[in-house]
Amino acid sequence: VPAQSIELSVRVNRRRQSLLVAPRETLADVLRDRLGLTGTKVGCDSQVCGSCSVLLDGAVVSACTVLALEAQGRELVTIEGLGENGKLDTVQAAFLETGALQCGFCTPGFILAVKALLAEQPQADPEQVRAYLRGNLCRCTGYGPILEAIRRLQEASA
Ligand code: FES
Ligand code: FES
Repeated sequence: VPAQSIELSVRVNRRRQSLLVAPRETLADVLRDRLGLTGTKVGCDSQVCGSCSVLLDGAVVSACTVLALEAQGRELVTIEGLGENGKLDTVQAAFLETGALQCGFCTPGFILAVKALLAEQPQADPEQVRAYLRGNLCRCTGYGPILEAIRRLQEASA
């Protein structure tokens, strides 16, 4: 830990965490390398692919381009924080049901983005869904099963 480190206090997946971080450390590096939360994936490392998406106070951010210290005093949710008591979250279950993943690299980011989408715009139409998810890229699924998972979640909550 470099000499000029600063104490970061943040809630991650409903747990308070306190650790020393360097001013230039990214949130993705701190989550993965310091807290062991490797479900947050780093694909492009330049805010293009969305695989590092996490929720910061409920809003989707790219952890690869947010400094860890920007999360000071705030609430973070990563993919590890979704399911509870051994049960999958509804978005995770819907992705499984429609086969909305292949290699899985984009999946944590997509699932968190879909959580935020459904919280903000529960009945978003297909065009709004596509626009909301434009920052998340998948090279495997062709997007169809992902959109179908969202449609089923909307139907179930209508
Ligand atoms: S790794 Fe952060 S957007 Fe691609
Ligand atoms: S499932 Fe492979 S990149 Fe999306």
